[in-house]
Amino acid sequence: MQSTTATTTTTTTNPTPCQKVDLEVSPLVRYDAIVSQGKVRLDNHQRSIIKHLDRLWRDLKQYSPQPAAISILADENTHNGVFSSFSKWFNSAKQNKDEDPSASTAWSPKSMYIYGDVGTGKTMVMDLFFDTLPITRKRRVHFHAFMLDIHARIHRIKTENPKLANPLAPIADDLLNDAYVLCFDEFQVTDIADAMILRKLFSELFARGIVLVTTSNRHPTELYKNGIQRQSFLPCIDLLLERCQVLSLDSGTDYRKIDRATSHVYFHPLNQNTLEQINAITRKLTHNKPMTPMKIDFLSRSLVIPHQADGVARVRFEDVCARSLSAADYLEIVKRFHTIILTDIPKMTMKHRAEARRFITFIDAMYESKVTLIASAENSIMEIFDAEQGEDEMDSGMRMMMDALDMTDISSPLFSGQEEAFAFQRALSRLVQMQSKEWVNKELS
Ligand SMILES: Nc1ncnc2c1ncn2[C@@H]1O[C@H](COP(=O)(O)OP(=O)(O)O)[C@@H](O)[C@H]1O
Ligand SMILES: [Mg+2]
Repeated sequence: MQSTTATTTTTTTNPTPCQKVDLEVSPLVRYDAIVSQGKVRLDNHQRSIIKHLDRLWRDLKQYSPQPAAISILADENTHNGVFSSFSKWFNSAKQNKDEDPSASTAWSPKSMYIYGDVGTGKTMVMDLFFDTLPITRKRRVHFHAFMLDIHARIHRIKTENPKLANPLAPIADDLLNDAYVLCFDEFQVTDIADAMILRKLFSELFARGIVLVTTSNRHPTELYKNGIQRQSFLPCIDLLLERCQVLSLDSGTDYRKIDRATSHVYFHPLNQNTLEQINAITRKLTHNKPMTPMKIDFLSRSLVIPHQADGVARVRFEDVCARSLSAADYLEIVKRFHTIILTDIPKMTMKHRAEARRFITFIDAMYESKVTLIASAENSIMEIFDAEQGEDEMDSGMRMMMDALDMTDISSPLFSGQEEAFAFQRALSRLVQMQSKEWVNKELS
């Protein structure tokens, strides 16, 4: 597997032109170097963001918040550790009873929130910052994976200590012990559980002097737009605006779509010729070994991949996107295979909204883990989602629910909200990038 684990990663997961880590080269020096080496094009919008990151990079060299005294999660097997951590939290919670935990923080460098359209280089500039940052207590993680990790930690603490009112304080202690610079890629808020957790979590993180650098498709004031009980999320937006320098990266260029040499890894339409090509690639990548089923056990679930060999999984769209798999399932799959052959992708219309969402989640997981995707589909990439067909059928039920929840301003026709419209746009851009020669499994080039 080419990737690190989904939930915790301190290495970059996106392709970045700055592979070599030179500890004393600042982000701006690095950017100018890769521009002059011809690895990336000079983009003044990116460069101005990098200048801000460069300043933060310098500030962080003078900054080092102390780790929390005791980590609840690290000491979970020793009662002393757990109880002293709880009492520490309990006492500090009593002192600050109605206060915002982040209010009394000592000076720390201002966090940074970079937003803009798909493919403009947000992840690249953040990774450049992360890679050049000469500290060890830093963590770079996809936001989705980060939240899954937070949910798992909350669940664990709540199971062990049902009476504990606020598990986020000891969790924040533990996060601080690992890293005081957290880089989140693709920050977004799509469900109410995350929306409710985030305000408290971010307060706890800022209170400990943790510095965030985050990329997102939208300005903080646009987060969780149309979300259920958005009112309760507004303080989180205020906190972000207060604690972060908000920067727009709007170069107007989607670098993913810029002329790259492409490999032949996406086949359509679904006919005999396509099937033969997919079979030939399968044989090549598995070195003619027979494909066998693999059972994947994780948490309390298990999942069967019916055909796999040599780090290559072959799955049908119907089996992985038409069944109720979740992001956690896809993350488990991409951890185990360097190449996924996904066959029989239908044209997705309004009738396939659930499938389309899962497909996007699966693509995101593959992209994050740098998995090579070989695909066979009914349509070309650009026509994979058809928002026109079957609209009426979807509308009635969905619309009723939206009305009942007083959710208006639903602009994307195929999906229910703007978050998903972004996700859809991003999936297309990623599918295009995942065909590039620099992306795919070297055995195919
Ligand atoms: N200035 C540039 N010149 C050439 N390629 C670039 C440039 N900026 C970004 N890229 C490449 O374009 C792709 C998309 O960039 P990325 O940082 O993933 O965009 P975003 O996170 O904004 O969607 C990446 O492969 C990245 O390396
Ligand atoms: Mg990105």
